[in-house]
Formats: sequence, structure tokens, C-alpha cells
Amino acid sequence: MSQFKLFEFIEKTSLSADSLADLPIAVVLELRRSLLGWYGQSGRDLPWRRSRDAYAIWISEIMLQQTQVKTVLPYYDRWLKTFPTVQLLATADQQAVLKAWQGLGYYARARNLHRAAQVIVLQHDGAFPQSLATAMALPGIGRTTAGGILSAAFNQPLPILDGNVKRVLARLVALPCPPSQSLSFLWQVSRLLLDPQQPRDFNQALMDLGATLCTRHHPACLLCPWRSHCAAYNQNIQLELPMSESRAPLPHKVIGVAVIYNPEGKILIDRRHQTGLLGGLWEFPGGKVEPGESLEACVEREIEEELGIKITVGDRLMVVNHAYTHFKVTLNVYHCQHVSGDPQPLECDEVRWVTLDQIDQYPFPAANLQIIAALKSAA
Ligand code: ADE
Repeated sequence: MSQFKLFEFIEKTSLSADSLADLPIAVVLELRRSLLGWYGQSGRDLPWRRSRDAYAIWISEIMLQQTQVKTVLPYYDRWLKTFPTVQLLATADQQAVLKAWQGLGYYARARNLHRAAQVIVLQHDGAFPQSLATAMALPGIGRTTAGGILSAAFNQPLPILDGNVKRVLARLVALPCPPSQSLSFLWQVSRLLLDPQQPRDFNQALMDLGATLCTRHHPACLLCPWRSHCAAYNQNIQLELPMSESRAPLPHKVIGVAVIYNPEGKILIDRRHQTGLLGGLWEFPGGKVEPGESLEACVEREIEEELGIKITVGDRLMVVNHAYTHFKVTLNVYHCQHVSGDPQPLECDEVRWVTLDQIDQYPFPAANLQIIAALKSAA
């Protein structure tokens, strides 16, 4: 069998998805055999792989969507202790759900898990749906997550295409464009290669290959079971692939943030609206600096607009930089004193005065946790 069959085939057919079906079956069988053999020897022993419980596997897949395995491990264990069943998740308080997620980021994932658990209990008798379309109708579940869950829980022959898998396949075929421009082709490749006899192990193996050997910056090609068929390796262009998605630089928001104390030394926090980024989480109030405005003036104005109160702005406590998916923020945090007015939730869902001891009960976004740590170390 020629080493370059797969690549030559795909090049000859100009990446036509239809003609993928003509790919020599011997190449496909060899790719399946070598990947599963490697996985048997070198696959990672991960807790969700020991489970066949669709609920636990679903939780792991959602946590793993934008987060690395080593970060997910302690969260996964804690989550299953806090919410061991879909019924307990469905009936939990949203604040408890967000608290269990605190620090993992992309909080829409937690809100969607909570809503989807309620749908599963109310509409599916508490059983995770086994059809692809029904699984994909749940909040927060796209095609790759559904394929990951249904193949892992029920050994269904459904392909996956997450970020790591896109990289592996883009290299395997030396994809001459960024993956986002060739998604339907990559789905075809993933579906064609998937071993219909062992879809569970095949998908897990493909994810492990991407996460452990076929990494972005240091691919360990000499250890790779697909080396001899990999078009990128054979052309020595593995470091150039996948071609990068051209992205505009992230917008940068400069925010003035107030840590407002009342005469009893309590601090004012507010809960963000449910919709939008970080919805339902608590934060220290503040907002965007307007052109030409000083940071202190911004804090004073924002607090009056958001909460209808007067404050005095004192010393700057700290500056926190944080990158979200679609923008970066710089939080300029000021110590402030409450002067007059009763705080009202004019641009948020709720406001509360809390002590530093009580503050840990509330879910906060990562950037705000640094502020809490600084307040505690100064206390
Ligand atoms: N990323 C997404 N799903 C995963 C899984 N099941 N194992 C390891 N990494 C993953």
C-alpha cells in the first residue's frame, strides 16, 4: 500500500466530499487498526471513560468543550458528588450550579446544562436521548458533542469534529485551507474513518491522538500511528497546518470597577442579567470608560447609572487583565465609600451587601476572583 495513498487520493479529487467514498478501503482499515492499536497501548485512563452513564459522560463532554483535561478532572469529580443524577441537577438552584462551575469559564455551558437537565427530566423521563437529532435539540449540545456523548455512552457510530480532531484530520490530508472553510469535508473524513465496529474507542482514540501527540506546536510525529499516511508529515509541513483562521484582533474594553463599602464594612455586589456573557454570575459593579473620561469619573457615573447611589472614589486597589473569547478586558478596581441612596438593581437582576466571609458563597467570574483574593489578603 502506498504511503501517500490518502493524500494523493484527496489531492486528485480536489477535496470533493462525494468521492471520498472511493478511498481505498485498505487505507481506511489500516488507519483504524493502527489508531486503535496505539490507543490500546497509550490511551489515557480518564474517569469518564470508565463510565457508561450518559449523564456523567454528558457532563464530561460539556466541561471538555473549551477546557483541558487536567483542569476538568477535579471539577468532574466534584460535580458528580454535588449533582449525582440528572434529577438532582434539574431541581438544583441556578446559583449552586454556577458555583460548581466557578473557575471553568464559558458559563453559558453551566446554564445550558441546568436547562437541558430540566428538559431531560420533563420530556425524556430522565433518560439522556439516544437519537442524534433529539440530543442536538438540547441546549448546549452541537453535533460534535452529541457524537462524543452517544458514541461514548451507547457505542453509536457517530463521528466527532472538535478542535483537536480538526487539527489531526487537517494534517492527515494536508488540508489547503483553514478548517472552518472545509467543515463539511472534514465531517466526511471523520465519518469515513470512524470504525463502525468500535466507534466508542475510535472517537476516544482520535481525541487522544490530537491531545497528546498531534499537538499544535510540538507534534510527536515519530510516535504517531498515522505517520506513514499523514500528508502533512510526508511533506514536512505539520507545523504549518492547520492553516490559521484569519481573525481580527480582539476588541479591548477598559472598565472602571467599584468595591463599595458601607459604614458596617460590607461590600456591594450585583448579579448580572441572565442573558449574555457571564449571565447570572455576581460581580463588583462598574462599566466601560467613555472617551476622554477619567477612570474615577467613570466609576462614579457607572455606579449612579447602575445602582442609583452616590459614592466617593478612593485609591486604586488593582488592575486585572482578562481575555474572554471575543474581547479583552482591563478592570481598574477602586476602593469606594457609599455616600447616599439605596442601591437598586437598575441594570442588573439583584444587588446585595455582603461581608468578605460571605462572599465565597456567590459565583463570580474569574477576573473578579482576583479582586476577592486581593481584598482578603489586605483584610
Ligand atoms: N475532549 C472532549 N471529549 C473528550 C474525552 N472524552 N476525553 C478526552 N478529551 C476530550
